[in-house]
Amino acid sequence: MSLFNLAILISGSGSNLQAVIDATEGGIIPSAAIAIVISNRAEAYGLVRAKNHGIPNMVIEKNETEKLLETLKTYNIKGLILAGYLSILPPEVVEAYNGFIINIHPALLPLFGGKNFYGIKVHNAVLASGAPYSGATVHLVDCGIDTGAALIRGVVPVYDDDTAEGLQKRVLDVEHHILVKAVKALAEGNIGELKKNPLTIINDNDKHGVRDYAKGLSELCDALLI
Ligand code: GRF
Repeated sequence: MSLFNLAILISGSGSNLQAVIDATEGGIIPSAAIAIVISNRAEAYGLVRAKNHGIPNMVIEKNETEKLLETLKTYNIKGLILAGYLSILPPEVVEAYNGFIINIHPALLPLFGGKNFYGIKVHNAVLASGAPYSGATVHLVDCGIDTGAALIRGVVPVYDDDTAEGLQKRVLDVEHHILVKAVKALAEGNIGELKKNPLTIINDNDKHGVRDYAKGLSELCDALLI
């Protein structure tokens, strides 16, 4: 059986990339191979991670659409994983891989998504809102910003004494977990099922200072219509 070739697109540290590398190398996603890692920034540490694992990697800047499409063709790419990729994919690429591109976002979409919600700004906004929960979402990519169908959400509590950095770290842990799950579903042809019935994973292992978590979860379900 031929492997489902993935391109992983990054812009920064690449910890989500590392989670997918570990899952493919560890046999958790036996049907997939990371064929190439593409960064839009030469200084992205994720490129070093790719090199450390002998994975082909290159820098393609955000307006180099032809080069990106050519590269995806050369590496016989079947699915694209946006793992901390801070550019908007050109519509030509979204159309060419429609239904086979997923993105990880560090909030519970549709909450805290869209143009100005990236990086630490997301977590600052969550804290300012007083929400008792946050988390991450893996979603399909369409031509909008964070507007594609949600596939998997991971929920974490917000603590009374939380900082944006502390929340960011806990959300990042859940990102790694749900991204691997979604990549596996993509490689195994199970995205349609997740699109119909998105999965919500709740992480409440740590009971320290949880701000009215149960009440928050019920509000969350209302907000997300689940
Ligand atoms: C993650 O929080 C991701 O959701 C966001 O950027 C961050 C990237 O982290 N879009 P890393 O590069 O995977 O460590």
